Amino acid sequence: MGEVSFSYQQFGIEIGHLESTSFSGILQSYSNSKIAILTDENTHKHCLDFLITGFQGLNSAEIIVVPALEESKDLDICVYILETLSEAGFGRKDLLINLGGGMITDLGGFVASIYKRGMPFIQIPTSLLAMVDASIGSKTGINFMGLKNQLGTFSSARNTYIDKKWLQTLPTCQWNNGFAEILKNALIADEKFWTTLMEISNLKEQLNDSVIQKAIDIKCEIVRQDPKELGLRKILNFGHTIGHALESYYFNSKMPLSHGHAVAIGILVESEISLIKLGLPKFEFEQIKKVILKNYSLQIPDDYLAIWQLMQHDKKNDLGKVKMSLLSRIGSCAFDQIVDLEEFKMAFEKSVELIR
Ligand code: GLY
Repeated sequence: MGEVSFSYQQFGIEIGHLESTSFSGILQSYSNSKIAILTDENTHKHCLDFLITGFQGLNSAEIIVVPALEESKDLDICVYILETLSEAGFGRKDLLINLGGGMITDLGGFVASIYKRGMPFIQIPTSLLAMVDASIGSKTGINFMGLKNQLGTFSSARNTYIDKKWLQTLPTCQWNNGFAEILKNALIADEKFWTTLMEISNLKEQLNDSVIQKAIDIKCEIVRQDPKELGLRKILNFGHTIGHALESYYFNSKMPLSHGHAVAIGILVESEISLIKLGLPKFEFEQIKKVILKNYSLQIPDDYLAIWQLMQHDKKNDLGKVKMSLLSRIGSCAFDQIVDLEEFKMAFEKSVELIR
C-alpha cells in the first residue's frame, strides 16, 4: 500500500488522554439533549466512574449495562437497549456513548444506527482490540444464528476517543487479543511495520502509542479508499475467513475462543494457503509462523469440514465460492482469491500439526 498518507483525525478519531480531547466540548454541545452510556459489567465497574465524575453533564446520563459476554451481541439484547432508549424518551438527536471493548462498540454502534433511523454515537474503546479495529471504520454488528457479525450496518461514530489508560488493568490475554489485528494490519500493508512488530516480546511494555497509531493509520487509509468494502477493504479481513469460522465453531460448542486468538490461527492457516496459491516466500511464511507461535497458545479442532461449512457464511463469498484475502508478500495482500476445499484442507491440516 506504500506510505500511509491519510490522517485518522479526519475520521473523528483522537488519540490521547480523554481529558485533553474534544470530548468535553462535544458533551457541552449535547447539554440540552439526553445522553446514554452503554457499558458491560466490567466497564460499568472499572471505567464508568471516571467518566461520570470527570465530565460535566454525564452524572444524569442514562446508564445501560449488558453482560460482559460475546453472547450480548444478540438481537434480544438490542431489543433491551432499544426499549430502554425509547422508554427514557430518547430522540434521534440525543447521544449514545459506547464505553467498552469490541462487543460494546459493535453492539452500541448497531443499536444507534437503527434507533429512529440513526442517532449519534461516540465510541470510547477500552480494549486494545476495540482501539485498533472494532471501534474504527464505521462497521457495526451483532451475531445471528450462531454466526459472527451476520447483522450489521455501516455507520460512522461522531467521534472515537482512544485513551491507553483503559488498557493498564487488562490481563495479558486481552493485549494478545488486540495484537492479532495489529499484526494483520502490518502483514497486509506495511513490511517495515511488520519488522518493528517482530521485535516485540513484551506487549504491555513495548506496545507504545506510535504502534497503536500506526495500526489505526493503516486501517483508516484502507477504509478511506473503500468505506463500504466493495473491494480493497476486504484485505482487512485477512485471517478472518478462517478466524470467524473458528470463533463460531467454539462459540457454538460453548468453549469460546477470543476474536484475536481466532484471527491469529486464521493468519497462520491463510498464510499457509498464501504460500501455495500466491507464492508467499517461504522465509516470510516462517517469520509469520514464528511470531504467531511466540505470542499465542492456540487451540484448533481436527474437524476441518465443520470449519469449511462455517466458512460458507463468510460475507466476502460470492456465487457459492469461498473467497479469501491472501498475501503475495508481507505488506502486499490480494482480495477475492477463490480457495477450494482441497487447498483449505491441506493448509488447515498443516496448521493442526504445527499447533499440536
Ligand atoms: N474489521 C475489518 C473491517 O473493519 O473491515
